[in-house]
Amino acid sequence: MAKLITVGNQKGGVGKTTLACHLAFAAHEAGRSVLLVDFDTQGNASQFLSQNMKITKNAGGSELLFGGEELIFGQTPHSNIKLLHGHKRLQALDVRNNEVLEMAIAKRREMRKLPFDYVIFDTPANLGPRLASPLFWSDIAILAIKPSLSSMVGLEDMFETIGNAKKRNPILDIRFVINMMNRSSGTQKKECEALHQKFGKNIIGEFSLRQHVADALDNFKPVWNYTKDAKLKREWKEFTARALAVSE
Ligand SMILES: Nc1ncnc2c1ncn2[C@@H]1O[C@H](COP(=O)(O)OP(=O)(O)OP(=O)(O)O)[C@@H](O)[C@H]1O
Ligand SMILES: [Mg+2]
Repeated sequence: MAKLITVGNQKGGVGKTTLACHLAFAAHEAGRSVLLVDFDTQGNASQFLSQNMKITKNAGGSELLFGGEELIFGQTPHSNIKLLHGHKRLQALDVRNNEVLEMAIAKRREMRKLPFDYVIFDTPANLGPRLASPLFWSDIAILAIKPSLSSMVGLEDMFETIGNAKKRNPILDIRFVINMMNRSSGTQKKECEALHQKFGKNIIGEFSLRQHVADALDNFKPVWNYTKDAKLKREWKEFTARALAVSE
């Protein structure tokens, strides 16, 4: 059976897409098959994985999960990674909120039988049905968090959405990744300590702001195949190993 992982947080720009792409690369390199479902209208994960910047112009991506048509998985240059891509017209799903949520609940069993080792969902920065649906299906939700007051306050809304998803999907487990830390900031250090107090061992990754991370994806690579910094490589590999194992 597939293992389903939702990467989320309604806060924008915290690293959801970066984490989702690295999970897909790691599973691919481990010889496992991956479907990346991109529920974001920006479609950045689809672009990084397909190396096709124009992919977001076409419909026929992740919205197919809520239509009657046959699923056609998009190809990528990586033999083990397939896509249901993100594109601008996904916003139409938000308008059909209740209908989409009902379909999502009804589709749980089918989603968990998709013919892949991993299904990874990259989700948009809002609490609508494109985040709620994969939470009904997933084994784990990985929440990307920035150590800042606004990011931490926003988590409360996210927990409410997760609480609702758990009523239908009791197996859903939550893990956290602290991202974009600035180690020279005393304020951020305190915020990180507070996160560690609160979430303890459920924090499975902790990353500083490093340009090599952003540059790697711009070169269509995971950071461990881009940087020469051994520590940076190791940190990202260890995170993906933990995340992919957590649902086993
Ligand atoms: N650890 C990091 N170090 C440096 N840059 C990073 C790091 N993590 C993410 N970034 C960069 O920060 C920006 C936002 O990251 P990303 O797109 O992954 O966030 P997101 O949560 O998916 O955003 P959105 O809410 O818009 O979907 C990107 O340019 C990305 O390359
Ligand atoms: Mg994103």
